[in-house]
Formats: sequence, structure tokens, C-alpha cells
Amino acid sequence: MSTVPTQVTAELFNYLIARTTPEDAFLKELREAAIAAALPAIWISPEQAVFMHILLQISGAKRVLEIGTLGGYSAVAMAQALGPDGHIDTLELEPRHVAFAREWIERGGFTTNIHVHQGAALDTLASLAAGPTYDAVFIDADKGNYAAYLHQTLDMVRPGGLIMVDNAFAFGRILEDQTTTDDVWAIRAFNDLMAREQRVMSLIVPIADGLWVGVKQG
Ligand SMILES: C[S@@+](CC[C@H](N)C(=O)[O-])C[C@H]1O[C@@H](n2cnc3c(N)ncnc32)[C@H](O)[C@@H]1O
Repeated sequence: MSTVPTQVTAELFNYLIARTTPEDAFLKELREAAIAAALPAIWISPEQAVFMHILLQISGAKRVLEIGTLGGYSAVAMAQALGPDGHIDTLELEPRHVAFAREWIERGGFTTNIHVHQGAALDTLASLAAGPTYDAVFIDADKGNYAAYLHQTLDMVRPGGLIMVDNAFAFGRILEDQTTTDDVWAIRAFNDLMAREQRVMSLIVPIADGLWVGVKQG
């Protein structure tokens, strides 16, 4: 049996946002600089950053793998949750995004905690695969490769590790049955794949554009 949840109207959403821990001051500064630098405004939302921070903190994660750095907003948000001995490997293709992220990671004092790897994520993943396992992974890059990213990273995360994948709602278009883009089709296929994946206990959390949250079994 399933129960239809309360619909989150704009009014209810404003109510819950007003009661969510406010955006960290440094993250706000980074976000505003990213807007001023005309980076694509596709980073996680402040409330998603709070949610991911809570998940990482309660799981005691220390090593995180991120696919899709952009300007470093989510990487810094996660590093804040890991504490001073945390480590994040974050993967980014675009040199301009890498340069911005590195600058802000340095400004925030996270250079020893966050390592930005420039290049196509699948190539970088292959080079990191032989290293120590991760406590958590966050997939948030090119949607057409989501299935490959899951396949590759599942072997790199320890049993009991946290799996987070962004944009499960495909920019709000997941249920559209009219013409949709390749990215929407890719996310549909990925969502179905994730739902069948027996190595992960998971669900889509209706926050921001839908966040897959799972725990690797075994
Ligand atoms: C949605 S943004 C990441 C946002 C970031 N996680 C945040 O919330 O602050 C996706 C990023 O993935 C990068 N990207 C796209 N294709 C990639 C690839 N094949 N390898 C690595 N990064 C890629 C894009 O350049 C973009 O910066």
C-alpha cells in the first residue's frame, strides 16, 4: 500500500525553506561569484547542500568521490560536512569550471581537502579505481553517462557507503510524455536502472530536482 504524500505547494515550500538551516556564508559568497562569472547556474540548491551535509555527517563519511565539480559549490558544502580530515576527489571536464573551483577552494581553505581532477570523468575514474575506497559518491555531471558512472563508482564505494545522484526529476520534466531532450531520456533510463539495482537500497528524495539517496549493500 502506498499513501500519496502531501503536495509541496510553493507556499509550503517557502514555509520549509524558512525553517531550514540558512546557507553557509562562504557558500553564499561562492554562489554569488559563480553567478557574476556567468558559470551555468546548475549547482545544488542551498537546502540540498544542508540535506547532503546531514547525510554525510551522520554517516561519518571521510572520503567522497564527486562527478561534476562546476564551481565547487557542492564540493565545498560536502567538505564542510566531512571535517578537517575529510578528502574529496571531484571530477570536472571544463577548464574554466576547474579554474573557478580551484580559486574558491583555495579561498575557503580547502586545498588539502578537495582535489579537483580535470578531464573526462570516465577517464579519471579509471585512474582512481585502484586507490582506496570511498565512503560516499555524488554523481552530478553529463546525464548520458550516469549509468556508466554508477557502474564504475559502485565498485569504488565501500559496503555501507552512501550513493547520491542528482536530477532524478530531469529538470522537472521526468513525467512529460511529449518531446523531450536526450538528457531527459537518459535520466529516465537511469532512474529505471537505479530502481532495479540490487546492490543499492535507495529512493528518490523530492528535494530540489530530485536526489537519489542510497546505501551500498553487502
Ligand atoms: C550540474 S554541474 C555540477 C554542479 C556541482 N556538483 C555543484 O552542485 O556545485 C555538472 C558539471 O559536470 C561537468 N561535466 C560534464 N560532462 C563531464 C564529463 N564527461 N566529465 C567530467 N565533468 C563533466 C560540467 O562541465 C559541469 O560543470
